[in-house]
Amino acid sequence: MSAQPLRVIQVGAGAMGRAWLRTIAENADVELVALVDLNTAAAEQAAADHGIANTLITDSLEEAIERTSPDAVVDVTVPVAHSAVNITALRAGLPVLCEKPIAPTVADAREQARVAKQTGRLLMTSQSRRYYRALTRFREQIRTLGPIGAVSTRFFKAPHFGGFREEMRHVLLVDMAIHAFDAVRYLTGRDPVSVFCVESNPPWSWFAHGGNAVVVFEFADGSTYTYDGSWCAPGEETTWNGSWFVSGQHGTATWDGEGEPELTGPTEPAPVSGAEGEEIAGALADFVDAVRTGRTPDTEVHANIVSLAMVEAAVLSAEQGRRVLLAEVLDA
Ligand SMILES: NC(=O)c1ccc[n+]([C@@H]2O[C@H](COP(=O)([O-])OP(=O)(O)OC[C@H]3O[C@@H](n4cnc5c(N)ncnc54)[C@H](O)[C@@H]3O)[C@@H](O)[C@H]2O)c1
Repeated sequence: MSAQPLRVIQVGAGAMGRAWLRTIAENADVELVALVDLNTAAAEQAAADHGIANTLITDSLEEAIERTSPDAVVDVTVPVAHSAVNITALRAGLPVLCEKPIAPTVADAREQARVAKQTGRLLMTSQSRRYYRALTRFREQIRTLGPIGAVSTRFFKAPHFGGFREEMRHVLLVDMAIHAFDAVRYLTGRDPVSVFCVESNPPWSWFAHGGNAVVVFEFADGSTYTYDGSWCAPGEETTWNGSWFVSGQHGTATWDGEGEPELTGPTEPAPVSGAEGEEIAGALADFVDAVRTGRTPDTEVHANIVSLAMVEAAVLSAEQGRRVLLAEVLDA
């Protein structure tokens, strides 16, 4: 017997909000009961474009909760709005699935984590780039390598987004690198202890600041994770997940970020079934399962803060030209 669909309110109907509307519509385990956006005209247009009728559209999350008595909230607003939206939902007794990054700062994320703990409700970040079958397979291969000495990601793209990204500081670290930083924690099952980062912006960069970054994280056992990236690198571009290389005691594992990962050395691990869906569909399925079973997902807010701290520590290192301990950021 299948359970009743989870009745959800989606907050945020911008570019990514539209992708979430499609994903929610395609998942029989969830049902959209309200769409909230400060810009109700944009929300109405997004709903119409996706064939959504008879669903409450409002600019007030409180009103939507009052009128629909939902089971959960999906937050697809901009990062600065995440805290207010998530805390309103948690205090109303609702579990929340929130787009990455959960907050613009570690301090803000910690406050949300505090409220999640206080209310006993699940607050989960949608780190959509964790949900790839190939990534799960890559992790299984890495587990066969024995102790890991070094992991690296090369990320070279040349996107012209326009808008806020071209004006902001530390653009590559803050807006993109969190995906790879979070993925290395997923792949190795470990968190780094320190970071050294050099940021630059080539003369031809169309970003105001930080189009390039080289970041070296160190783990407690002395092994390293190196991220070498650029967002203004026309030519031979990598995939959006970047190109990965893992060196362990018994061999290497590589992944181009899209196709099948490759193992050189030990025996291939048995195939794994992998995630339910990929990208945000995978995050949504994981969230529904966690709400229904009471299981704590890997990207629950307390655990996810470490990925945010990796970004914040890298930014601090670039600004101050020194090695930064993650504990400095986490304990601040
Ligand atoms: N997982 C991914 O690969 C991926 C890709 C793109 C964006 N994102 C993330 O998705 C989120 C949304 O990004 P976007 O590109 O859709 O932004 P956007 O600016 O296009 O849309 C955000 C929407 O939120 C609304 N909004 C802002 N504050 C609000 C509030 N307090 N209450 C209700 N509505 C509010 C805005 O009116 C706007 O319609 C961000 O956190 C972003 O980092 C993730």
